[in-house]
Amino acid sequence: MGHVYTFGIILGVLFLARQAISYISAARFKKRHGCKLARQIPQRETIIGYDFYRERVESSKNKTFLENTKKRHDTYGATWTASTMGRRFYSTIEPDNVKTVLATNFKEYGVGSRLKAFGPLLGEGIFTTDGAQWEHSRALVRPNFTRAQVADLDTFETHIQKLIGKIPTNGSTIDLQTLFFQLTLDSATEFLFGETVASLTSPEGSPQQQFGKMFDLAQVRIGARARLGNLVIFHRDPEFTAACKIVHNFVDGIINRALEKAEPVDMEKSIDGTGKKENYIFLTEMLKTTRDPKQLREELLNILLAGRDTTASLLSHTFHVLARRPDIWNKLKAEIDELGGEKPDYETLRNLKYLKWVLNESLRLFPVVPSNGRFAKKDTVLPRGGGANGESPLFIPKGGIVMYSVYVMHRREDIYGPDALEFRPERWAPEENLRPGWGYLPFNGGPRICVGQQFALTEASYTIVRILQEFAAIESRDSTAWVEGLSLTMSSGNGVKVSMIPK
Ligand code: HEM
Repeated sequence: MGHVYTFGIILGVLFLARQAISYISAARFKKRHGCKLARQIPQRETIIGYDFYRERVESSKNKTFLENTKKRHDTYGATWTASTMGRRFYSTIEPDNVKTVLATNFKEYGVGSRLKAFGPLLGEGIFTTDGAQWEHSRALVRPNFTRAQVADLDTFETHIQKLIGKIPTNGSTIDLQTLFFQLTLDSATEFLFGETVASLTSPEGSPQQQFGKMFDLAQVRIGARARLGNLVIFHRDPEFTAACKIVHNFVDGIINRALEKAEPVDMEKSIDGTGKKENYIFLTEMLKTTRDPKQLREELLNILLAGRDTTASLLSHTFHVLARRPDIWNKLKAEIDELGGEKPDYETLRNLKYLKWVLNESLRLFPVVPSNGRFAKKDTVLPRGGGANGESPLFIPKGGIVMYSVYVMHRREDIYGPDALEFRPERWAPEENLRPGWGYLPFNGGPRICVGQQFALTEASYTIVRILQEFAAIESRDSTAWVEGLSLTMSSGNGVKVSMIPK
């Protein structure tokens, strides 16, 4: 008994000594870097910080999460701190800080418990992992996003025609957002697996429809899991587990069929009798580097998740605006009409200047990844956010969470001018000399920058061109203002209810 007691005391002393050492080394670190304290927002208590956690959950439910974050920054400045569920949390909209986290000091931060929240659906892949494992995934995935591969517009055209076929021409109301989510699921599955789930046309109850529904359900549940942080290991959700199983079985079927085919096709040599290259299939390319079915499934699902909702949301926000701004619709249409109704190729799309500005502006005011965060792997420092004026360096302790709100940063008047809240594509004209740098970040920056950026912009541009070539005008059938629709990404909370007027 006496031994146990002595052992307990030794452990206690060791623990206190460790705390003291890390306190002293943190104090030295802070002094060396000239760090000052960040502004702490008022909280009932800061040990657990339950009030802040609750408020974030509530505002997510009320669709006011992003506007609340903006109000906080309007009140407490560009960087402030709070405690949430026992963890130190720093919120910043300072471009210098964001650059430090994502690029300059990239190695000092990680994506934290993302794998725990997303793991059951996605497994270990480019989106969920960190460190050497992430580097390996990135090296595997990245080469498959070159220009030639993202420009397969012929395949995309078949999906667009199905979408256009579903838009009523008799003036009745349609929610374009629903159609865009189906379109991007169909095109992403075709690009990744070589088999589309054809959600725009496949019959209700088919395995394809079932896959789409279960993938959606699992994604929604992941959002809730992510908010739980490390506590997610205690969370039980049988519907989520069942959905993951259905998604995995479906994808495994496709992968097994691909593996059964003898050797992977070599893209450069796969020219048929007519001299035309076969359609690009991501899975076929991946088979050249790995034949591990689990790894293939995990990488493909990681990309499906990263690429599907995002592009659909960009399209939804853009049409939400077009339905309310005939001036922008008319300018865009004038530019697109110059194509004389011809289908655009990759180069033509890149030269549509006004369309590019519209997309830039859509991603500015409605960034589809509106807030994001990283976890400090060690004691580190941000260049700004400390002291009363927020201009001094700021100490970030190991385990601290740095969140950055792209939504709020994109609305900063000191970057975008007094009309920052206005949708004005012309602000992107070269003569306006807008140089937001790290203050404009729809696709992230640094080593983890979005690999699908060109794919997304090509797909969104092509869709917009083809729809505007088909319809003379658009009318909004929803008088409400835009509200956030937050799941893992941000869509329009009330959908995009419109009526399209044919040519
Ligand atoms: C408008 C459309 C899109 C936007 C705004 C967007 C935005 C982003 C952002 C902000 C990230 C960083 C996430 C983070 O590190 O926390 C990201 C990562 C990623 N995106 Fe996109 N994305 C879009 C479309 C796509 C598409 C179409 C694909 C693939 C087909 C794709 C694939 C990826 C992948 C694989 C990552 C993870 C990269 C890594 O961690 O190394 N994205 N995207």
